[in-house]
Parts: sequence; structure tokens; C-alpha cells
Amino acid sequence: MKESKKLWGGRFAADTDALAQAFNNSLGFDRRLWREDLANSRAHVRMLARVGVLAEEEAARILEGLDQIEREIEEGRFPWRPEYEDVHMNIEARLAELVGEVGKKLHTARSRNDQVATDLRLWLKGALFELVQAVRELRRVLVAEAERHLEAGTVLPGYTHLQRAQPILLAHWFLAYYWMLTRDQGRLEDARARLDESPLGAAALAGTSFPVDRFFTAHALGFARPMPNSLDAVASRDFALEALSALAILQATLSRLAEELILYSSFEFGFVELPDAFATGSSIMPQKKNPDIPELIRAKAGRVLGDLVTLFTVVKGLPLAYNKDLQEDKEPLFDAFDQALPSVRLLARMLPALKWNPEVMARAAKSGYALATDLADYLAKKGLPFREAHRVVGRVVQKLTREGRELEDLSLDELKGFSPLFEEDALSLLRLEEAIHARTSYGGTAPEAVRRQLREARGRLAEEEA
Ligand code: ARG
Repeated sequence: MKESKKLWGGRFAADTDALAQAFNNSLGFDRRLWREDLANSRAHVRMLARVGVLAEEEAARILEGLDQIEREIEEGRFPWRPEYEDVHMNIEARLAELVGEVGKKLHTARSRNDQVATDLRLWLKGALFELVQAVRELRRVLVAEAERHLEAGTVLPGYTHLQRAQPILLAHWFLAYYWMLTRDQGRLEDARARLDESPLGAAALAGTSFPVDRFFTAHALGFARPMPNSLDAVASRDFALEALSALAILQATLSRLAEELILYSSFEFGFVELPDAFATGSSIMPQKKNPDIPELIRAKAGRVLGDLVTLFTVVKGLPLAYNKDLQEDKEPLFDAFDQALPSVRLLARMLPALKWNPEVMARAAKSGYALATDLADYLAKKGLPFREAHRVVGRVVQKLTREGRELEDLSLDELKGFSPLFEEDALSLLRLEEAIHARTSYGGTAPEAVRRQLREARGRLAEEEA
């Protein structure tokens, strides 16, 4: 311990409090960055050789050592040691064991401050890419489901205030989530594009007197460019906040979809049955099928938002540049991805396996006076000011409610009693198909409008795949 204290920064003195040392340690979670850390070191060493800070043979030895470390980690025989603070120190210490003194030259012109910021950006680029793929897959599923239900003409009551409002096509409902997720995906992509800059070479905070080539390392690591300010490079975590914000918004979308599945699969609604593979039975009530997976997806929105708030609070008010507080950036970030990715993937698997109940949905869509707007529109089209038409139909609904009847029970004579403008064709309006077919406005729920929407959604996906 004493000996290595001299060699490695970030170590406690041998007599340090054990609890303090454990508290300080980040290996338990930053071990996950090992691939990025190796990539970082390889780019750095090659650059040091190019600019003449390291001899070619020295660089070659170090690179061999790094290869060996990679094999050790992959095969599960790397000696992870908590007496070294983090993944960076563990790899560097092992390198010196494997290749000798020359291994201690790896850290020339680099600090763990630029190292960790670089590793984290690299990791985040990969994680965002994976999540974007998963969201795109979910969007494909939504489009496929929309298409299937457009063909079948499946109808769903549309709600406002969770009161039956107007009938819609189930395809229209699926596509609503498609567009929400299209924007969610766009936010993930934007965050990824903006964080695509390399902090490496910023060193501790002020840059370095070694003739480093930051453009070389940036490009070697696949970044678009090096960050132009060394202080910003090591101090900033806005890139992580931006990614977490995008994840929190995504998870909010997923939670709404999950919530609708929970409601619609309840006995009260009875619109849909969840596939057994995504629900559990109750241990005590034999009749129950619990929507555990959608419920967890709904709850994860709270957790991911919590991750965002955690990091936000850590970063707020921190003086430049690096502070140990920033070690706390990783767990919320990792956690948010660990919740969001399976949430997206599970929904993509669950949606095609849902068993919808079109008769129940159609019955619900037409009861509860969901077609009242159509009657009011009818009068408005005959010249009655809409507010007036609204009042007339309000009286119709009041009467029916009192008598426990539905709109479709109305006769033409009865209707005429409310307004002489009602004629034979008003009755056909009270058919569900009629009401849906009438809403042909762009973005509306009529089949022809939904077909057009579906084409746009498909076109969008095709563009992304091109
Ligand atoms: N474990 C640290 C972290 O995750 C690495 C950077 C340490 N830098 C320092 N100056 N102590 O942030």
C-alpha cells in the first residue's frame, strides 16, 4: 500500500480510515467502463508515440499489455482490486504488473479527469445508439399493429378526462404513440450528436505542456472533434443531463402507454387481454391476472426522472473544474439506461401479442353518447351556429340520460322535436362507422386519413433505414 501510494495518484495513505476508503471507491459501478477505458488508453498511447513523447517500442509494449488486460477481463480472470479506487487505477496498476516500468508511462499527459469524462462520453454514445435502435423497433411494431387494425377496422372509444368522448380507430391510437416515440427517439439522437466531442487531452483542467494531438485521439475514438476548452471538457456533465432528460421524457411516454394497457385490460374496460407471458396471477385470488410488466414500466418513469434529478442536483452549483462529486454521475446514468432499454424492448414484444376485444370496444365506442358531437356538427352544417347546435344536442342527451336510453334508440320524430333541421340522414350519423368515416381532416381518425398517416409513418422509417 505504501509503495503504491507513491506511484499512483488518488490513493489513500496506508493508515486511512477503511470506511472512508470504501466510500471513496467507484470500482463497483465504473468497472462497466472498462472497454471504453481501454479504447481511451490505446488512442492515447498511439498518439504519444506519433508525437514522439513515447518511443515506438514503448508504445508497442503498452499496447500489448492492454490487449492482455482485455483478454483477462473478457475471460473473467482480471484481478479487480478494490484497494485501487476505480476502473482506471485498476487497469493502470495491472498494466505496470504486466509490462513493467514502461506501463507507468501510459498516464503521461493525461489525468483521470479527462480520462473519465472521455470514457463516459464514449459509453453514452454506445448506450444511446442501442436505445435508439430499440425505440425504432418499437415504432416498427406500432406501425405494423396500426396497419393490421386499420384493415380490421377495429374501433376504440377515444377519451378526454377519461370520459368517453368520440370514437376513433385503434390504428389511430397506435400511431399516436408512434409519433410520440418518433420525437423521443429524436431527442436521444440530438443528445448523442451534441455529446460527440472528445475531452481527452484536457488533462487535469488546463491542458498540458506535452505536444499532444487532441484531434488525433478524438478521431481515433470516433468523436467528431476535440472539445475546444480544457476546463469545460473536464467539468461539464450537461451531456449526461441532456441524455437523462431525453430518457425521462421517453419513459414518460412509455408510462402512458403502459397505463392505457393497464386500464384497458381491467375487468371494468375489458378491451384487451395481456398475453400470459407478460402478466402474473394472484397468489390468493384465482380470477386475477395482474399487469405487472406494464405497471413496472409505468413506475420506472418515476425512477428515471429520479436519476435525472439526482445528477441535476449533483452538478448544480459545482465550481469548475473536476470535483469528486462528479464521480456520482455514473450510477444514475447507468440506472436510467438499465430501466429504459428493457421497458422499450418489452413493449415491442408485448404489443403484437395483445388480444383485443373488438366487440366490447365497439359497444363502448358507441354508448355513452360518444356520437353527440356528430349530431351537433350536423346541425352546424345546416347553418345553426355551433354553440346553438351544442345546446340543442345537450338537451337530447339530457333526455336520453334521464330515460336510460342511447342515441341510437332515437326516432326521427323525436329528433325533429328538438330541432326541425333534423332529417332522415341524421339517423345514419348515429352509426359508428359513419362517425369515424366523417373525420377526414388531415391527422384525423377516418380510415382514409389514417391510411395517409400510416404512409407518412412508414416513409419516415424507410428514410431512417436508408
Ligand atoms: N473515480 C473518479 C470518477 O469517477 C475518477 C476521476 C478521479 N479524479 C480525481 N481527480 N480524483 O470521477
